[in-house]
Amino acid sequence: MPFVYVNELKQHAGKTVTVRGWLFNKRSSGKLHFLQVRDGTGVVQCVAGKKDVDEKTFEACGAVTQESSVIVEGTVRLDERAPGGAELGVTKFEIHQLAGQPYPIAIQEHEHGVDFLMEQRHLWLRGPKAAATMRVRGRIAQSIRDFFNGKGFTLCDPPILTPAACEGTTTLFNVDYFEEKAYLTQSGQLYMEAAAMALGKVYSFGPTFRAEKSKTRRHLTEFWMVEPEVAWATLDDIMNLAEEFVCHIVQRALETCKEDLKALERDTKPLEKILPPFTRISYDDACKKVKAAGVEMKDEDDFGTPQEMAIVGDSEKPVMVHGYPTAVKAFYMKRNPANEKRVLCVDVLAPGIGEIIGGGQRADDLKYLEDQIAANKLPRSAFEWYLDLRKYGSVPHSGFGLGLERTVAWICGNEHVRECIPFPRTIYRIYP
Ligand code: 4AD
Ligand code: MG
Repeated sequence: MPFVYVNELKQHAGKTVTVRGWLFNKRSSGKLHFLQVRDGTGVVQCVAGKKDVDEKTFEACGAVTQESSVIVEGTVRLDERAPGGAELGVTKFEIHQLAGQPYPIAIQEHEHGVDFLMEQRHLWLRGPKAAATMRVRGRIAQSIRDFFNGKGFTLCDPPILTPAACEGTTTLFNVDYFEEKAYLTQSGQLYMEAAAMALGKVYSFGPTFRAEKSKTRRHLTEFWMVEPEVAWATLDDIMNLAEEFVCHIVQRALETCKEDLKALERDTKPLEKILPPFTRISYDDACKKVKAAGVEMKDEDDFGTPQEMAIVGDSEKPVMVHGYPTAVKAFYMKRNPANEKRVLCVDVLAPGIGEIIGGGQRADDLKYLEDQIAANKLPRSAFEWYLDLRKYGSVPHSGFGLGLERTVAWICGNEHVRECIPFPRTIYRIYP
């Protein structure tokens, strides 16, 4: 008997099939057992009637415990009220491994505190909310690759062990690298700039690391970032690309993640409106919005979550803020020729979560970059290779980085990025 997946059951109406999975939940009356079996693609209700199966089978259905692995043979009955549109009338039931009891996580998982659940993440991943979020994450990752591959970008993977800091020296993870000092990468950008000079349009997509000492709902110490980089592109070009990219991700998620977004109780109406154009405002105008909303901030400072929330306000679409102060942004950003206190950069702020994208146009002048490296007290020797890019055929170029977990949190409507990665790493967590 071939095995079928729960999300394919509808195609087998009236037939007898076998499903393999785990017991999610169970309800019994004297004559009937209702077993909810999940297999990663969905949950199916399996109904075992005392008069329909032999005694041993009926007993096994009664004895099976939460999260036992099971093999169920049954007849597919279409039922519009059933989740997934079908249920199974059990004909055979085998317990592959009887799970020990008690299972650490209650069916009503919100009865537990989040710290406990995180400690049990290896099991909590099986829960409906975690599983739905991971499926959405996987599909978003796919749509990201499709977007750039479809536009002729070359995927070009940067190293994870690096000799240089890209995003400031305060969030570096040190690694013993034989006799040398090395760090886990904070961003693949500098390498993507080299790759863009070789291949024109490139992107990387992989894990990046920041020793973030702050404990917030949007910071991880290990997170995934997609980083496109485009030779000859200006800030305007890259803002257009970012806008199109974000719309693509959201619209594809709406198409491919309907069931999961429903399970997550995400109101998808606001997401349907994520289409171009997004509001674009300058840093200086954004500061006025922050002040008008009564949120405090220092002059010429970077924005944190409260300021970003004030800037997005009740906009249902992301807002693009450009032209931040030179002093608060990374060393590699190109200065605005019309105002040297501002750089040609953009942050994309999404409703409810804030910054999901940071990027902009890169400094392409050798002298300026040399001065920036010195002013930021970065070790010149680690950047010699990077400076070469400005010596041999320097061109205007731009790129950005989008954080996957923040994007997943926004689309799923999850409060915290730690629920948007299978095994989160934060200042207090490296287990499991
Ligand atoms: O704004 P960031 O620091 O930009 C860069 O790293 C650039 N080098 C990217 C580039 O231009 N190629 O980070 C980009 C995005 C943020 O907007 C955010 O979505 C995410 O990465 N991010 C984090 N996500 C989770 N936890 C953290 N600690 C994050 N730090 C940044
Ligand atoms: Mg940023």
